[in-house]
Amino acid sequence: MLNKKLIVANWKMNPESVTDAISLAKETEKGIPKSLKAEVVIAPPFPFLAAAKKVIKRAELGAQDDFWEFKGARTGEVSPTMLKNSGVKYVIVGHSERRALGETDEMINKKIEATLKAGLKPILCVGEPSERGLTRTLRGFTRNYEMAKNYIRNQLEKDLKNISNLKRRTSNIIVAYEPIWAIGTGKPDKPEDSLEMIRFIKGILSSKFGVRSSIVLYGGSVNSQNARSFLQYKEIDGALVGGASLNAKEFSKIVVIVNNANAVK
Ligand code: 13P
Repeated sequence: MLNKKLIVANWKMNPESVTDAISLAKETEKGIPKSLKAEVVIAPPFPFLAAAKKVIKRAELGAQDDFWEFKGARTGEVSPTMLKNSGVKYVIVGHSERRALGETDEMINKKIEATLKAGLKPILCVGEPSERGLTRTLRGFTRNYEMAKNYIRNQLEKDLKNISNLKRRTSNIIVAYEPIWAIGTGKPDKPEDSLEMIRFIKGILSSKFGVRSSIVLYGGSVNSQNARSFLQYKEIDGALVGGASLNAKEFSKIVVIVNNANAVK
């Protein structure tokens, strides 16, 4: 568990120009309360990292991916060291949108190791597709926890296999639970269902990997209307926000909710 909640803006492949990126970063910065009790991370696309870094003061900088080697002949890749030297603190690794393009658990495992080695904090994304987490019933879909948990356990075991240094006191790895069917659909998971899954993930992190105080976020159609219902649980350490982070006002509302959720804890 974290003593402050963490909220991460994943801009994905947006916006289209550096000018737009700077104004989104500025607007986002403006919407972050001065008395911030949460940690806010903004993860723009690689070409906008430097520009965003200049304007964000109250938030940390994140990247959306990295590579598992540090330099050399790897056309098109970006190394963890480059990110570290650009002021990045967090790296999203293994997002389902990258897995869908062929990123394997073995690649993700190497990326996690390299990210940690560079002194960055990986945000490992896990999440099951609908056919592995939902069962159709007469009344619509219900959660199939057993299938979903098996899927997530398998991802965690492969993605974190033999990772050195996981058992540190302050958690250096963050996991984001993002059920694939909830991403970009406007249909978030039920907060109590994601709580069950997040408890399960924390159990695995502790029993299999010795991570005692793990940080696990929820992601998937989080917005200002539903953020509180997730963040009210102390086991849900924060949110990974996609679409809603592209609207600075909407994102700011979420940050305020997260900030207040901290205050009552
Ligand atoms: P949305 O918030 O757009 O559903 O995206 C979630 C996500 O994939 C964040 O990484």
